[in-house]
Amino acid sequence: MKILTQSLASILLLITLASNVFAAASPAFEGRKLYVSHCLICHGIDGKGNGPLARKMGINAEDLTATIRSRSDIALMKIISGEGRENVADESGHGQISNDMPKWKDVFSNDQISTLIAYLRFLSTSKHTLTGDPELGMELYQKYCSICHGRDGDGKGVLINLIGLKPIDHTNPARTDKISNEDLARSILEGKGRFMPAWRDILNQGEVNGIVSYIRLLYQVWGKLEEGGFVIVLRSPTMDTNEDSTRSLLKDTSCGSAENISKMGKTQAVSIGKQFKSRGVPIDKVLTSPHCLAKETADSAFGQAETAEYLASTNNLPEDQKESYETQLERQIGSFSGKGNLVILTHESNINALTFQTLKKGYFLVLMPIGENEYEEVGIYKLNI
Ligand code: HEC
Ligand code: HEC
Repeated sequence: MKILTQSLASILLLITLASNVFAAASPAFEGRKLYVSHCLICHGIDGKGNGPLARKMGINAEDLTATIRSRSDIALMKIISGEGRENVADESGHGQISNDMPKWKDVFSNDQISTLIAYLRFLSTSKHTLTGDPELGMELYQKYCSICHGRDGDGKGVLINLIGLKPIDHTNPARTDKISNEDLARSILEGKGRFMPAWRDILNQGEVNGIVSYIRLLYQVWGKLEEGGFVIVLRSPTMDTNEDSTRSLLKDTSCGSAENISKMGKTQAVSIGKQFKSRGVPIDKVLTSPHCLAKETADSAFGQAETAEYLASTNNLPEDQKESYETQLERQIGSFSGKGNLVILTHESNINALTFQTLKKGYFLVLMPIGENEYEEVGIYKLNI
């Protein structure tokens, strides 16, 4: 009898474990559920502030998609919980947050508020709307897709090793953002390449819309970086002035020129630094190109910057010097190890040698060192600027 209860208990445990795996959904997905049940009534379905209750009460529920861009996660935590709200420095030019915005600290745990923040970040950065029911989407994705696309949607499903062809990481907005809802739906209905099956006969349009919305909510940017040990590559800003003056400026390594970082550039750099800090991304060291603009950007963003000659632009360099710079950079990345992360600020040409993709303004590249001059690309992620 005892044996029976014990094995029953272990079966139950297995079932709970299995359903826990299901419950490990992305923060934005979890946050959306809370948003729909508690916030939508004032802030509206798309966060623009036109919810039915706000209209009825005649209160001005902010357009969250605009205001929260300039707020750190820590500030949002205070605003939403209500605790310490009065101390939130107001960067967007609005006054204090009034009590028309309820305080949620007795309703939600901090973890739940973090998921709400993840959803608000999604609303304010994604250009795609959710046209289907993501909860239905999640069910179907776990049932039919996770075997290849992974339970978390990171493209590392158990079958993938057998196929030898990796689908894109659905948690990485830099990969999914450029694909429209229609194109995602088309890949699902009609299949793609040799290994992605067509689901036309199994899923209807509504179900596919649900899956597409679920894929959108897999959006995750910062989670991994909190663990440290990664290399974060940022692109140095460039001057918009004509080429000649850019060239002369780049040669001025004393950084005495009047045309250094602009006011706007500085504000953006500070905001970039804050985004890493407010999400608890530990930074061990910042290496930067010796060019003034790069150095000053790194300094404004992270409050520290060590220059390295091999991070100077390889554009227009003789081939052998270019190669030497690239080798040094690869060795630096591959051999990095640390409790925190290493930040590298360098130029487009140098970055192109590291990744097959281009790093657009407002994005950063994350690499994982694996020793000597070897590293793996984790992904390209989006900043909130
Ligand atoms: C009863 C209506 C109401 C509900 C419900 C509500 N809010 Fe608000 N919220 C407001 C109003 C009104 C403001 C603007 C307050 C001000 O600026 O004085 C606001 C402001 C905010 C802000 C600050 C915007 C900014 O950056 O200035 C955030 C963030 C926010 N709400 C998030 C939420 C979240 C998350 C929920 C759900 C858990 C929620 N709100 C539910 C009415 C509401
Ligand atoms: C047998 C493995 C397998 C299954 C099951 C599978 N996929 Fe894929 N899927 C792939 C592969 C491999 C690719 C990459 C194809 C290519 O780029 O040639 C892909 C590509 C895609 C794409 C195009 C963008 C991308 O990620 O590269 C979408 C969207 C997609 N799959 C969604 C789904 C959905 C939704 C399901 C479940 C209904 C599903 N897939 C089931 C293997 C699979």
